Amino acid sequence: MARTFNYDILEIIKERWSARAIDQSPIPLNDIKAVMEAARYAPSCFNEQPWRYLVAYENEDLTVMRSYLTEKNMKWAGKAPVLMMVLSSNVFHRNQKANKWNQFDAGTSWGFMQLEAWKRGYITHGMAGFNADRAREELNIPEDHDIICMVAMGRYGNLEELDPLFHPIERPNERNPLESMMLNVDTFIK
Ligand SMILES: Cc1cc2nc3c(=O)[nH]c(=O)nc-3n(C[C@H](O)[C@H](O)[C@H](O)COP(=O)(O)O)c2cc1C
Repeated sequence: MARTFNYDILEIIKERWSARAIDQSPIPLNDIKAVMEAARYAPSCFNEQPWRYLVAYENEDLTVMRSYLTEKNMKWAGKAPVLMMVLSSNVFHRNQKANKWNQFDAGTSWGFMQLEAWKRGYITHGMAGFNADRAREELNIPEDHDIICMVAMGRYGNLEELDPLFHPIERPNERNPLESMMLNVDTFIK
């Protein structure tokens, strides 16, 4: 089913979707840094900028990052020329108190990144399917950094090379109706 829009919103938001048929050819470092720059300019609580990205684009680093993917994600993201792990500092740098907004801010940052990547012709596809515990141990990621997500990035490739398992879902998906998310103040009181 095609996506439907009730309002004339930004084209890039309408167009973006998370494909899996990613081309394995490398991405210029300049473009990787540009999408990081977009992530950098997200808003955050107290301008704390809690997001951190482990970015792999060279063979040895990619091998390490691939090793954390679930078997199912490996089937398509294993080819991606860039793999990232999204981390987020869970304490405020300013006073060492817990920052309970850190994942909210990291989510905004990754959202900004996705849009810049799309503008430059790249897919960025988030993945919860990975072994965060093993990554924490092997990469020595400290406990004051939440490990949130992995991201595969690359140009759109050849659908024929994508595992047939994913063919039925290789398309933009739909959304719940606007009314189901835009609630009245007293919705939960009733
Ligand atoms: C936090 C997060 C985790 C996700 N985990 C996976 C995953 O492990 N494997 C996968 O194939 N897609 C994963 N996705 C992709 C979502 O299924 C996808 O974003 C969602 O269906 C909406 O589709 P769209 O991004 O094409 O609009 C993840 C997305 C996010 C934001």
